[in-house]
Amino acid sequence: MSKPLWDKGGDEADAAVQRFCAADDVVLDREIFLFDIEASAAHARGLGRAGILSEGEVRDIVRELGALTEAWREGRFMLDDRFEDGHSAIEDHLTAKLGDTGKKVHTGRSRNDQVLVAVRLWERAQLARLEALCLEVSARCLARARATAGVPMPGYTHLQRAVPSTLGAFFAAFAEAFLDDAESARAAYARLDANPLGTAAGYGVNLPLDRAGTTTELGFSRVLVSPIYAQNSRGKLELYALGALEQALLDVRRLAWDLSLFTMAELGFATLPTAYTTGSSIMPNKRNPDVVELLRALPGVVEGARAELGATLSLPSGYHRDLQATKGPVLRAFGRGLEGLALVPTLIDEVRFDEARMRAALSPDMYATDRAVELAAAGLPFRDAYKQVAQELDQLGDRSPEQSLQARVSLGGMANLGLELLEERLTAQLGARPQIP
Ligand code: ARG
Repeated sequence: MSKPLWDKGGDEADAAVQRFCAADDVVLDREIFLFDIEASAAHARGLGRAGILSEGEVRDIVRELGALTEAWREGRFMLDDRFEDGHSAIEDHLTAKLGDTGKKVHTGRSRNDQVLVAVRLWERAQLARLEALCLEVSARCLARARATAGVPMPGYTHLQRAVPSTLGAFFAAFAEAFLDDAESARAAYARLDANPLGTAAGYGVNLPLDRAGTTTELGFSRVLVSPIYAQNSRGKLELYALGALEQALLDVRRLAWDLSLFTMAELGFATLPTAYTTGSSIMPNKRNPDVVELLRALPGVVEGARAELGATLSLPSGYHRDLQATKGPVLRAFGRGLEGLALVPTLIDEVRFDEARMRAALSPDMYATDRAVELAAAGLPFRDAYKQVAQELDQLGDRSPEQSLQARVSLGGMANLGLELLEERLTAQLGARPQIP
């Protein structure tokens, strides 16, 4: 490992201790590296505007940061155990290329605000992607809801046959759910859209830093004002962001559960796209729904991350090295969660339904509620109607699913899914998405 940034000369660093402290930072920092470079350039420009770096120094630093970005993108530069972390790698690169000028980049900043700003930029991108994916899933569900609005299927409560429903109503439910989830992503985005750069180690610094300038340059909508709160917000905001991710993944899990049940041979309602199934290593006859099952496991990943964060955050004010342990869980949960969520739009498009099987699963007793409500609408007290129909369950055989469905006219009911309202909301949310610089 290269000499740590805090090396003052003279002290012998113990390799095992150094490794323990660096932990897996150098690997995790690969995710946030480009954001760290971007924020470093903004910091250097800010130092220029504050009169601390000369124009030429700013130009050199920004140019070398650009070269590092390019080398990274082309795979010519790798973050590995030559470095303590990504922050050290950036300064190391600048110093190797620019000598004294490179050594100036850390003027007025601490790794404490450096890591905060890089992680926030990364999280902002993740939340924007989360929102976009939720809206994408919602749009696909809405399209399928439109196409299947009249396709009857059983509606269950307690996993028992209850009343006739439609495939359109099934998809409409997820269309609306993912609109909510997109809003949650958006709320989390808005919460962390504040610039912590310039708060240094947590107590400001004795320089007239252009915090407003770096805020604009990095595309944050506001400055995170308090340096102490900047540190205290670490992990807390990650928990909030994970909460938004979990909202979406809870709906993914429910969808995955439904599809698992629908694809059981005994129900036979649905068939998954072949690409979303796998074979068995021993049973030649099997196609297994591994993808939906792993989608179902995603909230577990997020809950694990939240537990890890929650346990880490029992800290007094200010920076503590414990906070480093907030990074891994968030990176892993978003990585895995968004990877899974990205598979959902195609799943929605391509899952096939067997309309005849779904219709055959409707039994006449499922019209009992319709009959009781009809009697009540004609004036019989509902409780009496209920009891009467319970005695006459064998007399409902002449009804059709269509008749039942077409009578469900109140908003959201099977004859009036309100898809246009969902469509309006989708259009509004698509139009209001944040533009990341
Ligand atoms: N890897 C560290 C973290 O994530 C960077 C900040 C180190 N700061 C310090 N004062 N040792 O927290």
